[in-house]
Amino acid sequence: MPTASPTVNTTLPIGPHAVQPPVVLAPMAGITNAPFRTLCREYSGGKGLFVSEMITTRALVERNEKTMQLIRFDASEQPRSIQLYGVDPATVGKAVRMIAEEDLADHIDLNFGCPVPKVTRKGGGSALPFKRNLLRAILREAVAGAGDLPVTMKMRKGIDDDHITYLDAGRIAVEEGVTAIALHGRTAAQHYGGTADWEAIARLKEHVPEIPVLGNGDIWSADDALRMVRETGCDGVVVGRGCLGRPWLFADLVAAFEGRPDGYVRPTLREVADAMVRHATLLGEWIGDQSRGVIDFRKHVAWYLKGFAVGSEMRRRLAVTSTLEELRAGLDELDLDQPWPSGADGPRGRTSGNNRVVLPDGWLKDPYDCAGVGEDAELDTSGG
Ligand SMILES: Cc1cc2nc3c(=O)[nH]c(=O)nc-3n(C[C@H](O)[C@H](O)[C@H](O)COP(=O)(O)O)c2cc1C
Repeated sequence: MPTASPTVNTTLPIGPHAVQPPVVLAPMAGITNAPFRTLCREYSGGKGLFVSEMITTRALVERNEKTMQLIRFDASEQPRSIQLYGVDPATVGKAVRMIAEEDLADHIDLNFGCPVPKVTRKGGGSALPFKRNLLRAILREAVAGAGDLPVTMKMRKGIDDDHITYLDAGRIAVEEGVTAIALHGRTAAQHYGGTADWEAIARLKEHVPEIPVLGNGDIWSADDALRMVRETGCDGVVVGRGCLGRPWLFADLVAAFEGRPDGYVRPTLREVADAMVRHATLLGEWIGDQSRGVIDFRKHVAWYLKGFAVGSEMRRRLAVTSTLEELRAGLDELDLDQPWPSGADGPRGRTSGNNRVVLPDGWLKDPYDCAGVGEDAELDTSGG
């Protein structure tokens, strides 16, 4: 039987927004668009905070068409959270000012956690906090440009075990007026491998008592979320891969923090199939083309079906459907009375890691030099 304690049902202040319970959907590129956020919010009863996928600041200030589409929110989304990725203080400042002046969002999160080699090779993403002065300049511009909008940051522990940056970065964030910090308890070198270091989350909480610290990494169930809060003292949790193909985890998270373990959702395959069709439908409406919605949905199929008895041939077929009718027809051929399988719990999504981090030449020589980052560190990145 799941355990839950009402003692952790606290409020997470993100500027003027009181997030209760303190649960946040992690930004995930290609995943946490308006349809997925809407699904998660429906399961949570509107509680929690749901962050957009990452938007690059240069594309935003250039009003790139695709980017402008990515930042559209559903009318029900409140507060509207945008995650920005940028490497140049002036561009970040412009992007934040644009969001504030044009009322495009209610909260801005800055991404300093991306471990993708094509980004770190230029000094961007999770390589950037190593350059303390550059990090400070970006945060300063962002906070100044945001006016009354709260600015938060999300980061990893550092580049690798020999180049840990999160404590310095946390202090800099406090000094520059950042509202809250989320820490993914892995280094860039770990990518998604190994286990997240929750002790680091506890250490950050002690190091920056002035502002809320959000813990992130390896929350696969609502009970994991409660355990993270208890073990680290963090002020809230950020949940990513655990929600892939499982937006109802948000119902569990809310129930857990409210001390209602009987509110945990364990859908049958029939209910999962309905959720899949709804997700694909919402994607189609959002994209403005039903077939493209179903095609975009393909990447979610395996996650939704995880642990259920569905043959590999049928899994393949469902992952290449192009219309809602095909998707529904395929799902209707399954044994839909299957209960939620225990094999569906536990890790899902990317779990590999331990790569060498590719950095610009000489990057690690001086943490305080004022090197800038190549503009191309901002290109078309995906991930954190
Ligand atoms: C497919 C995918 C896309 C991601 N995209 C982003 C992103 O755009 N911005 C970001 O800060 N982190 C991104 N992340 C990292 C997650 O936000 C989160 O920090 C990480 O998955 C660890 O949390 P988890 O163990 O709950 O998944 C991404 C992760 C995945 C798996």
